[in-house]
Amino acid sequence: MKKITLTLKINDEKYEIITYPNRTLLEILRDDLLLTGTKESCGEGACGACTVLLDGLPVRSCLLLVTEAKDCEITTIEGLAKGEKLDPVQESFIEHHAIQCGFCSPGMILTARSLLNHNPAPTEEEIRFAISGNVCRCTGYAKIVEAIQALSNRGRE
Ligand code: FES
Ligand code: FES
Repeated sequence: MKKITLTLKINDEKYEIITYPNRTLLEILRDDLLLTGTKESCGEGACGACTVLLDGLPVRSCLLLVTEAKDCEITTIEGLAKGEKLDPVQESFIEHHAIQCGFCSPGMILTARSLLNHNPAPTEEEIRFAISGNVCRCTGYAKIVEAIQALSNRGRE
């Protein structure tokens, strides 16, 4: 197989990549670019640990060929904070003790960010539906829902 060259836009930065076209976005992020905030857990689309935003929408980077991400805006967990300033979703997760392990948290936070960008005042049901593809095997999700709900309520004030 022949290598290809492509440019990826990740967290507002451009990266020129030379790679085989059958590699996943997850492999490129973690192995080539060392953006290891994106986690690999199941590797087959079931858990959401590898979630990144593609043009603002959550996708499973373990299922996406890197070539499919070309010309898209990719956001990883590393791109949410602006310098020292955390994203409000990150702050709310901390305030509400919703930070779980390093495997499920990045995907949960990115999914929540995308939800709030598209629906600034989601109901509890909408929140639960939005994060239903992000699996945490250890929690009842209550704190995570609370953290997102706090921002939703803020949006309604
Ligand atoms: S690692 Fe991609 S969905 Fe589980
Ligand atoms: S899988 Fe991350 S805390 Fe449960």
